[in-house]
Amino acid sequence: MNIALFASGTGSNVYNIIQHFKSNDLINVVAVLCNKAGAGALNHAKKAGIPTLIFSKEEFDNSIKVEEFLAERKVDLVILAGFLLKVPQSLIDLYPNKIINVHPALLPDYGGKGMYGMNVHNAVIAAKEKKSGITIHLVNERYDEGATIDQFECSLNQSDTPKTLAQKVSVLEKSHFPKTIEEYILKIK
Ligand code: GAR
Repeated sequence: MNIALFASGTGSNVYNIIQHFKSNDLINVVAVLCNKAGAGALNHAKKAGIPTLIFSKEEFDNSIKVEEFLAERKVDLVILAGFLLKVPQSLIDLYPNKIINVHPALLPDYGGKGMYGMNVHNAVIAAKEKKSGITIHLVNERYDEGATIDQFECSLNQSDTPKTLAQKVSVLEKSHFPKTIEEYILKIK
């Protein structure tokens, strides 16, 4: 099973997923794709010797460059690991139930357009929520509305800030995202 990671930023999840599957004979991270030149995610891939592709939003919407790259590497499953662009319908059609995203909140709350990264954590803290967490879900044509695979929670108290919440969410992502991907692969294989 060949997986491709899509990322837009620092890539701590990309790094963690690469490490997790490094010694796995069944599941290989064969590509890292990114819409931002210079993003940390690309460095993690290069250090691990994994091929990368950088593309613009227009190239992503048009899809051909990305689809060819995925086909050349025989990618079976796509993982959005901190990826912020909306996935075009053609890619969703090419990978039905085979695109997984991690969202830094408990969907359906705090999802949708504009809800990513610190925007999510700012909104959760402003609403004085008692808990937040992560949602690992399949991607469909609507932002953050695909079927949930699993959710993991963290509790919040009055002293939490968007920054401390981001750290709690990051810990949850590192503990659960790679394992949940692995379990999903074993289920669909
Ligand atoms: C992660 O917290 C991820 O959940 C979030 O971006 C961060 C990327 O961190 N994704 C979204 O908000 C997607 N809607 P990273 O670049 O260090 O992996």
